[in-house]
Amino acid sequence: MNLARIYDLFAPLYDLLICVPIFGLKKEQSAALPHVAGKRILEIGCGTGYLLSRMASPERSVVGLDFSKGMLQQARKRLLCERKKASLVCADYHNLPFESCSFDSVVATFSLSHAPDILPVFLEIHRVLKKNGRVVIVDVGPASRSWLGARILLSLYRLEGDHPRDETLHLEMAGLGIIHRKELSKLGTVHLVVAEKLPFHN
Ligand SMILES: C[S@@+](CC[C@H](N)C(=O)[O-])C[C@H]1O[C@@H](n2cnc3c(N)ncnc32)[C@H](O)[C@@H]1O
Repeated sequence: MNLARIYDLFAPLYDLLICVPIFGLKKEQSAALPHVAGKRILEIGCGTGYLLSRMASPERSVVGLDFSKGMLQQARKRLLCERKKASLVCADYHNLPFESCSFDSVVATFSLSHAPDILPVFLEIHRVLKKNGRVVIVDVGPASRSWLGARILLSLYRLEGDHPRDETLHLEMAGLGIIHRKELSKLGTVHLVVAEKLPFHN
């Protein structure tokens, strides 16, 4: 079964599961919010729309993209319930269905670690960002200090089929310069990275 179908099945339970401490992602997701800038925002792998709904406001145009119809259905319900407005698009983030230079910020929380090869995704993000636009990422990756607990956790992510990584090199190769990086979880296996579109591309 492919990943989008797995998320389709899992979608009605997703919000319950992320409240369980071992998966507990909500606090880390929210760390992205203060770094989101501008009026035109794209969230890729938006899932059930927790952040999307928090970013949506009358002053902003917010788009949520995900390849799981089930997750998007949950996001639609949430937006309706919370009376927020955002556009939802069903697509793969390897091929973003948007014009070049159209977003001020691209946000991705716990979605990019599903991609085995991240460079093509960063090149797509670079393409759709406006000049000086930024990408805000929260995801799993190696901790700066090699705790045993951190190594075990990373092995578990890998067993699940995830690709925990330090994105630094690939961001730079795609023309995205890091302006901020912080470890978020106690073991350091969840981090926040903010990078800006460098002027010499596009
Ligand atoms: C772990 S969930 C994270 C959802 C949400 N961002 C959050 O922080 O709760 C990963 C999401 O990324 C989506 N996803 C994974 N790979 C994708 C791809 N190639 N294109 C679009 N969405 C993808 C999944 O369908 C899922 O909704």
